[in-house]
Amino acid sequence: MELPRKPQAIQAICVLAATILLLRIESVDGRHHYPWESFEYCAISCRAHSASLTDFGGVGDGVTSNTKAFKAAIDYLAQFEEDGGSMLFVPPGKWLTGSFNLTSHFTLYLHKDAVLLASQDENEWAVIEPLPSYGRGRDASGGRYISLIFGANLTDVVVTGDNGTIDGQGESWWKKFRKGELQFTRPYLIEIMYSENVQISNLVLVNSPSWNVHPVYSSNVIVQGLTILAPVTSPNTDGINPDSCTNTRIEDCYIVSGDDCIAVKSGWDEYGISFGMPTRQLVIRRLTCISPDSAVIALGSEMSGGIQDVRAEDILAINSESGVRIKTSIGRGGYVKDIYVRGMTMKTMKWVFWMTGNYGSHPDNNYDPKALPVINNINYRDIIAENVTMAAKLEGIQGDPFTGICISNVTIELAKNTKKLPWNCTNIEGFSSGVVPQPCGALPDKGPEYIAACNFPTDSIPIDNVEIKTCSYRRKHLLNNHVMKHL
Ligand SMILES: *[C@@H]1O[C@H](CO)[C@@H](O)[C@H](O)[C@H]1NC(C)=O
Ligand SMILES: *[C@@H]1O[C@H](CO)[C@@H](O)[C@H](O)[C@H]1NC(C)=O
Ligand SMILES: *[C@@H]1O[C@H](CO)[C@@H](O)[C@H](O)[C@H]1NC(C)=O
Ligand SMILES: *[C@@H]1O[C@H](CO)[C@@H](O)[C@H](O)[C@H]1NC(C)=O
Ligand SMILES: *[C@@H]1O[C@H](CO)[C@@H](O)[C@H](O)[C@H]1NC(C)=O
Ligand SMILES: *[C@@H]1O[C@H](CO)[C@@H](O)[C@H](O)[C@H]1NC(C)=O
Repeated sequence: MELPRKPQAIQAICVLAATILLLRIESVDGRHHYPWESFEYCAISCRAHSASLTDFGGVGDGVTSNTKAFKAAIDYLAQFEEDGGSMLFVPPGKWLTGSFNLTSHFTLYLHKDAVLLASQDENEWAVIEPLPSYGRGRDASGGRYISLIFGANLTDVVVTGDNGTIDGQGESWWKKFRKGELQFTRPYLIEIMYSENVQISNLVLVNSPSWNVHPVYSSNVIVQGLTILAPVTSPNTDGINPDSCTNTRIEDCYIVSGDDCIAVKSGWDEYGISFGMPTRQLVIRRLTCISPDSAVIALGSEMSGGIQDVRAEDILAINSESGVRIKTSIGRGGYVKDIYVRGMTMKTMKWVFWMTGNYGSHPDNNYDPKALPVINNINYRDIIAENVTMAAKLEGIQGDPFTGICISNVTIELAKNTKKLPWNCTNIEGFSSGVVPQPCGALPDKGPEYIAACNFPTDSIPIDNVEIKTCSYRRKHLLNNHVMKHL
């Protein structure tokens, strides 16, 4: 299946000239060693220093815990923060590990045959404070297990590879969650908070205990080329959740999950309102999503710090519940405004358009019933959908209508056995043009001359101009005396 392609904004694209070169030799004990590694990769910054996990006692047998090896490696490499930065190379192997923390001016690189296996031992996971903009953990009140790969207060951090794998081994967490046996909120796979200049790219993430990638309170974030897979029945395995982040670009991702493929957030009710940190300047392009019970892109439901200037284009949705969905509630406050969606192809959908003003789900009973969300200037254009159960369910809030909704150039082919009204709109205002089947009365058709009227900005946001460099890694492997001396 081919995604529609559109001309790119001006941006430097890293094109790899060479592929990985790994010289493998077999030693007397029959084990394989890789004395030289040399390859190129794409990143926002290249690094002057590097080390391999095996230099720090890492064992890739899938059984030995590498938590200490990761900690030792990154503690050692942190000394190069102000001296050209560093990279930790994870070679082929199965590397069982508990949570570890990243550092600044640092790259974690996973070889294509490297698999990080998340420990299933709860003791390997520190419990940290709930997010201030949420006031509590999502699974349980109080603390939350730290993410497998965690970073806070960093600048210039890259997690990448040539499609190496991070396996969250989520099954046991999902079971405990379903049985209500968890004392704390489940861990995510990657969480980066209070940071800037972040890149997460070219990885395969499977079976996360909960959300996969969570950049929060951060800016200048690039998420690229991720393949994210979880059973469609797994609980809360959202793909990528930009949360109170500014200047974010998510592109070329393929996500199959048990919850929203992308969920844009900014805090929960009174906690999100008082924290007051919006998500804005977000570009999402060339996303393929399969999410039978959730949205391709959800805006909310936690949106109390506000969501503004989201641009989504070239999206392919297959067998998903809804497209770009707004989820909010009385008590959320905040806003969702200036949302632009262009170029979506959808196959087998429950709803093409869905907005929900009564999502409920409050952190506690202290939310302010007068805190009404403002939903305004929401644009959808150039959409083709087939095998659809309902075209739209657009449900604003009584006394707080969702306004400025524009839908143009949309063709929806309903599934053969649909009986219901294709459009159901309450408490919304806007207009439409060139939409089949004919929208509800709240979205009057302005006529064919308005078919291209729904806005999509022509300027670019700053993250689109960030240069991705071609970096090279070449290192004599095995015992590196310089490194060993420091252990
Ligand atoms: C990582 O940082 C968090 C927050 O500062 C801390 O609670 C945790 O113990 C650290 N983890 C490790 C393995 O050092
Ligand atoms: C990061 O910085 C924030 C805000 O300055 C601070 O509240 C928090 O304790 C720091 N977190 C860590 C893990 O260093
Ligand atoms: C990584 O996977 C993506 C998606 O399957 C693919 O397009 C890309 O070429 C792969 N990259 C490498 C370096 O193998
Ligand atoms: C309508 O959308 C289709 C893609 O679905 C696109 O090819 C076409 O150019 C659009 N028409 C206008 C007038 O923008
Ligand atoms: C259409 O959607 C239904 C579910 O609503 C699904 O069972 C069926 O396989 C789909 N048909 C096609 C041709 O994709
Ligand atoms: C339309 O949506 C409203 C509000 O969610 C609901 O009460 C009503 O039953 C729906 N109407 C139809 C015909 O489905």
